[in-house]
Amino acid sequence: MGIKVRSVGIIGVGHVGAHCAYSLAVQGIVDELILVDINKEKLTSERQDLVDSVAHFPHRVTIKTGEYKDLANCDIVVISAGGITQDQNRLSELKQSINVVNSFVEEVVSSGFNGIFINITNPCDIITGHVYKLSGFDSHRVIGTGTCLDSARLREVIARETGVDHKSIIGYTMGEHGDSQMIPWSHISINGKPILELAQHDSRFALDHEAVLQEVVNAGWTTFKGKGATEYGIASALARLVHCIYHDEKQVIPVSTLLSGQYGQTDIYTSVPAIIGKDGVEEIIELNLTEEEMKVFNQSCDVLRKHIETV
Ligand code: LAC
Repeated sequence: MGIKVRSVGIIGVGHVGAHCAYSLAVQGIVDELILVDINKEKLTSERQDLVDSVAHFPHRVTIKTGEYKDLANCDIVVISAGGITQDQNRLSELKQSINVVNSFVEEVVSSGFNGIFINITNPCDIITGHVYKLSGFDSHRVIGTGTCLDSARLREVIARETGVDHKSIIGYTMGEHGDSQMIPWSHISINGKPILELAQHDSRFALDHEAVLQEVVNAGWTTFKGKGATEYGIASALARLVHCIYHDEKQVIPVSTLLSGQYGQTDIYTSVPAIIGKDGVEEIIELNLTEEEMKVFNQSCDVLRKHIETV
């Protein structure tokens, strides 16, 4: 038996899926991609375009197209299929996205796929929870990209405002990948030194919390407005997660995961910081939130619950 190739399937090669494919390929994170889409013409075109780039990479990547059953041996299946929002609200995509994932999750699982699902399809938290239920997989193997993306946006805003590189900023947004997400300011730090403490004697760190949150929440729409899609940001977040899993990095990344008592919440998928390694979500990090932060986090969970009820 030869060495196993690192094989990732991507379901849905619209703007997001295609950029995820390119990120994984160009960074050499995978050896093989299997692309699946109901639009066969688009599928053929995306494959061709990707294949045309491979000769310029320093590594080989095989790009295939296939059906759901061909994902059986993938380590990871990325779900990036679904509609596009028209009204600046990811929650309005719910019904359409539920129908879309209903059409393939069980088929992928019955093909024998036994790896990790990473869901991007919005509304990310609710759809990831739905994929978890449909798949029957243990929750650590069903992950939503969630606020991994929003947290990158947050660190970028803080970096710009403070002049400190984003790699030295520890910061997350938590809760819904959407308008109700929150920033646990008591846990935002410059490599361990709380930003709230720094702000007491250096005005650079005294950020307008509401303005930062609004900029982070609106970033997706700023991108979407002029080009009708967001793609590089989400593809980079996805690539980071896949890299973390393949290299068993155990990096702490906020992702949408099933809470079972953590943060006082049960039976709900939402974003909290978690240790990501070869088994997916290996541990949920439970931050000691302030009373006010806890309240806002709970409100975000309430928003999700209200929409779950409509499914
Ligand atoms: C975004 C989409 C992926 O925030 O929800 O860019």
